[in-house]
Amino acid sequence: MGFPHLNGKTKVCGLFGFPVEHSFSPAMHNAAFEQMGLNWAYMPFEVHPDKLPQAVQGITALGLVGANVTVPHKQKVIPLLHELDAAARLIGAVNTIVSEKGKLIGYNTDGKGFVTSLEKDAKYNCNNKKVLILGAGGAARAVAVQLALAGVNKLYITNRSREKAAQLAWEIEQGTAIQAEVLGWGTELPGSRVAEMDLIVQTTSLGMSPACNIAPDFPYEALHSGQVVCDLIYNPETTLFLKKAAMQKAKIYNGLGMLLYQGVLAFELWTGLRAPVEVMREALYKQVKKI
Ligand code: ATR
Repeated sequence: MGFPHLNGKTKVCGLFGFPVEHSFSPAMHNAAFEQMGLNWAYMPFEVHPDKLPQAVQGITALGLVGANVTVPHKQKVIPLLHELDAAARLIGAVNTIVSEKGKLIGYNTDGKGFVTSLEKDAKYNCNNKKVLILGAGGAARAVAVQLALAGVNKLYITNRSREKAAQLAWEIEQGTAIQAEVLGWGTELPGSRVAEMDLIVQTTSLGMSPACNIAPDFPYEALHSGQVVCDLIYNPETTLFLKKAAMQKAKIYNGLGMLLYQGVLAFELWTGLRAPVEVMREALYKQVKKI
């Protein structure tokens, strides 16, 4: 890995998380800085939940250009910031902070990263599409809000805990102009409803390594070749859910695109420059191969 040339002029950004040691972001961002000839460095900072306020104050105190924020800080960081981007406000979570003239501004590039990866890598336009989301946790929320902002036709949400799906659907309808409907989970989900979807996004942790032989209960036989099916999981690269969707001839995408483009968008927010996407992709894939 290329190492940034550090000196008195180096600009620093980083990642606040707990833990942070397995993050791919330092490799992805430092490769981008090197490619662009920027005297910048991206550092991992393991921030204990009790110390989040001090760490956020440290952005200003130490003159960092900004930071990424990951588990478990994405919600708790919000009251510590000066301003919130509209999508971050709707999602209720921040993954990117930009320090601008002493003001800390919170963004969420997770959902936008998902939509951008569909647009750029899959050449897929979400506008006016019927979308089914499996899950109603943090990842589902980011994706659902951004899909609503991208102008989908309607969102359908299915989740093990129906009340969490109902809460998310209610918030989408309150915060955006898009309708959201809750559908039954697992065996309660009718194949006829699944067949009418354009895009299906699996956001739960079901099937994540090491539980690779698990997939949600789902009417897989209803899937067809006119559909795009995504799983936000990238380890394994192809989940059992995606394998079953591929058997029905649906187009499949894993979560690497979202991971890449959330970084691309953060890079662009911090630097104001267009990110070297392919360099970041290569750096990310190299890390993933090591898992
Ligand atoms: P993330 O930030 O990755 O979205 P999360 O907020 O903890 O994580 O959300 C996890 C999601 O996976 C939820 O939709 C959860 O369903 P519940 O709301 O019913 O808990 C879903 N999930 C996790 N384990 C599951 C399981 N064994 N069966 C079905 N859904 C599961």
